[in-house]
Amino acid sequence: MDTLNVQGGYPLTGELKIQGSKNTVLPVMAAAVLYKGVTMLTNVPMIQDVYCMIHILEAVGVKIVFSDHCLVMDASSVENGEIPMEDVKRMRSSIMLLGALLGRTGEAVTSYPGGCSIGLRPINLHLKGLTEMGAEISEDGTKIRACASRLKGAYIRLDFPSVGATENILLAAVAAEGVTVIENAAREPEIIELCLFLQKMGVPVRGAGTGRIKIEGKRELRQTSYRITGDRIVAGTYLAAAAVTGGQVRLTGIYTPYMASVIRAFRECGCDVTWGKEEVSLRSDGRVAAVPWVKTAPYPGFPTDMQSPFMALLAYGNGVSMIEETIFEGRLKLAEQLAKMGADIRVEENRAWVTGQKKLRGALVEAGDLRAGAALAVAAVGAEGRTRIADPGYIRRGYESIDWDLQSLGGRIWW
Ligand code: UD1
Repeated sequence: MDTLNVQGGYPLTGELKIQGSKNTVLPVMAAAVLYKGVTMLTNVPMIQDVYCMIHILEAVGVKIVFSDHCLVMDASSVENGEIPMEDVKRMRSSIMLLGALLGRTGEAVTSYPGGCSIGLRPINLHLKGLTEMGAEISEDGTKIRACASRLKGAYIRLDFPSVGATENILLAAVAAEGVTVIENAAREPEIIELCLFLQKMGVPVRGAGTGRIKIEGKRELRQTSYRITGDRIVAGTYLAAAAVTGGQVRLTGIYTPYMASVIRAFRECGCDVTWGKEEVSLRSDGRVAAVPWVKTAPYPGFPTDMQSPFMALLAYGNGVSMIEETIFEGRLKLAEQLAKMGADIRVEENRAWVTGQKKLRGALVEAGDLRAGAALAVAAVGAEGRTRIADPGYIRRGYESIDWDLQSLGGRIWW
């Protein structure tokens, strides 16, 4: 198993360009399946989840060249709609291909992604949406098969604004006859970006970023090139790392309006944060103010993906902070690993009370999921001594080069 080693205590200072966004590129790659031709994406992060998505797309017939953050996909001939089972296990978000493959080939086959370390992760809303558009869903023990000779536009109301379900329905709607309306749609930046991509592809879609998205299907699509926006969660992770070390950083290549709630939270912690449209700077004297209540919520609320790095930050707070996790309760398990470094965190159901410490100390810890792994790196750069983060591949799923990035800011971190 890989180990990420961190020698703590070096203030992070300097400037860094942030990689492209994982959660933006994956659904956009899925959307490319809908166009019988070539799509080009730039600023694509070279991370494991992208390689996994490439593996799946190649399995269904897409021809791909990926080099230097530029991804060229030729989906001229896609006949097979079956997602290999090992890829579903490796990357739960492969489920977001269901709508696109169904739309393109009339049939999509996958297996249940199942629960994972951060929570149960059901897909009932995805399946309900596709059923309402005329898909027939059948299951034979391990596989789920969605078939539709003809998808039709529908009015779909989601019980919860699920990001993945909104993406799947949007992509199926591109191939459906007539108009689809998604009510209580997710409003996350990744949905806005997907809709901007679809618009560029020639799909009339309105309401992205609101709770009601309207999309007209069966339009002629066109060849598209699209630049993937910077990763707001990677940026937030590095801001947290700078804050615990008493550093000063300037991060570029991101769209800061997507980071409003996160920037607000850093300011509440006493960090000096300034920003322009595409850059954010943070200065900290190393003292972190406790925050009475951080509650995760669908966008524009505080993102659940930032909750773990924030827990690591608040472990250095000057009092008691309370975190309420409303999306993926399993994410509070990170507290056990932070405790090995001297953090004082009490977890009850979906709440964590974090009593900040002046110092944490290096320890051998385990990354239980992607964001927890990154959060342990945050805790470690501020800690005394060496931390070893045992990582069975989680961090590289979403962070292209956390080691080089933090090294370039003066951190001592290596695989
Ligand atoms: C996406 C992101 C993930 C982020 C999450 C919330 C990707 C690849 N992943 O995950 O990083 O943390 O959004 O912002 O973009 N739910 C149901 N039924 C469903 C679907 C979801 O009950 O059919 C529940 C989930 O259990 C969870 C909540 O809805 O409690 C949010 O899930 P969802 O928004 O779907 O997250 P993902 O798309 O899986």
